[in-house]
Amino acid sequence: MTTTPLPSRDAADAPTTNRRTFAIISHPDAGKTTLTEKLLLASGAIRLAGHVRARGDRRRTQSDWMAIERSRGISVSSSVMTFEHLGNLFNLLDTPGHQDFSEDTYRTLTAVDSAVMVIDAAKGIESQTRKLLEVCRLRDIPITTFVNKVDREGRDPLELLDEIQSTLAIDVAPMSWPIGMGRRLIGCHLLEEDLVRLMEAPAGLESDGQPTLAWDDPRLAAILPEAERREHEQTIELVRAGYAEFDPAAYREGHLTPVFFGSALKEMGVPDLMTHLARWAPAPKGQPADTRLVTPDEAKVTGFIFKVLANMDPNHRDRVAFMRLCSGNFRRGMKLTQVQSGKTIAINNPIFFFARDREIVEEAAPGDIIGIPNHGVLRVGDTLTEGETLRFTGIPNFAPEVLRRVRLADPIRAKQMRRALEDLAEEGVAQLFRPLLGSDWIVGVVGALQLDVLASRVESEYKVAVAFETIPYETARWISCDDPKELKRFIDAHGSSVVMDRDDSPVYLVRDSWDMRRTPQDWPAIRFGETRERR
Ligand code: G4P
Repeated sequence: MTTTPLPSRDAADAPTTNRRTFAIISHPDAGKTTLTEKLLLASGAIRLAGHVRARGDRRRTQSDWMAIERSRGISVSSSVMTFEHLGNLFNLLDTPGHQDFSEDTYRTLTAVDSAVMVIDAAKGIESQTRKLLEVCRLRDIPITTFVNKVDREGRDPLELLDEIQSTLAIDVAPMSWPIGMGRRLIGCHLLEEDLVRLMEAPAGLESDGQPTLAWDDPRLAAILPEAERREHEQTIELVRAGYAEFDPAAYREGHLTPVFFGSALKEMGVPDLMTHLARWAPAPKGQPADTRLVTPDEAKVTGFIFKVLANMDPNHRDRVAFMRLCSGNFRRGMKLTQVQSGKTIAINNPIFFFARDREIVEEAAPGDIIGIPNHGVLRVGDTLTEGETLRFTGIPNFAPEVLRRVRLADPIRAKQMRRALEDLAEEGVAQLFRPLLGSDWIVGVVGALQLDVLASRVESEYKVAVAFETIPYETARWISCDDPKELKRFIDAHGSSVVMDRDDSPVYLVRDSWDMRRTPQDWPAIRFGETRERR
């Protein structure tokens, strides 16, 4: 593999620890899976491209897991992969790429320090990318952009840059520029280093990785005709004059995105992207908790659970809770306090997820993600510490936008159904509500596709047929009040419209926009929350 020489910037700007925890965000089909494969390939973590998918397929055939993922050709579950490059340990968190925003996606982004946005050069910014980016912006997550598929005819790169700049209201700093596109693609010009990564080596150029020439190397003339060279030079002049230079501070504050052009499929630009991340992507930062900010250099271990996966192996009904380590040096066998319950848990079999395997972790550092197998004790939003009572914030539940009553086809299977719904609610597939009157469960999801995912998984993993009935509610709000008597009065007055969530917090089901406006006016002492964090 050929790697870019490190840019000659002040080393003081570079991150100090070697962990880089990031996610790739994109609209479906932009090339997230391909880029993931090629990053793993370029890092040497896997030898064959196609491995990620092949491995996924194998796992799915083994466990019949996520039948819906196969039938719709989408990636529903997210996972984490760890690999090394230039002495850095990368933790890549996969975000689900389907159309619907899900809580799982949001929570995955709570656990990263930066993101790579993949854009299809023919399509530009698409709806899902925009939504995910809004979340990144909310959390000030720095974004690196990869404009993919330049080996196909795409849109004018200048137009793409302007679109990124204007739709996202963020400065763009082009780091590379395609020479030609589609069938006429010759390579990509690295602007800082003035090097050209070539699709094919000209005669006489030996290379063990991607063929590369300096822009002023005369051998380039053999593949780049003079007229095209002049045209490219003019464009580059415009680009250098018209856009920002890469500024590490502005990038880390989320005001500027470095932009690479490339082709994940042809591996063009992938090593350069990775080198840039190794060099500039932020190291783990402090995490806000209810009592204080926790910084990664603190001696004591803290972390939070941002994801739970049930049934990774259906033969064992196990669950893996994914913890982002926020501070301290974790060692296998440590006993950590689950702040929410006050219980102490010995973490004896923590897992690291490498491209190919899972391995037991002996040690882990802030920024790392470890999987903790458990039987349902650990939940999303939990904080683990060495005893300090603090709770990490910013890992909320969102008000559902689709609500349905659960209908059980076979009442004898009620116990399995309950188990299934609780497990999957735990993963964030859906939220589960218990009515105060009557016995039918109500499920709530943020995007309608999640209902299909829920039904499919209940059937395939728990062998229970389930149907959903519409109910006359549009959304829900968590209700609270400083005066418990007033809260009780509200609940009594609204009987069947009040349900309890899994933590026994009351939730008001909202009929329509009129109800949404009117009820808070009628009950000024009651708070109606759109999100709720676990206490
Ligand atoms: P996603 O995870 O973002 O949904 O995208 P994925 O990587 O699965 O890529 C979607 C399609 O785009 C795939 O084609 C993939 O091969 C193609 N693709 C990805 N990167 C590039 C690129 O740089 N150049 C070109 N030309 N194509 C690219 P497919 O036909 O849907 O799947 P497959 O049969 O190739 O696997």
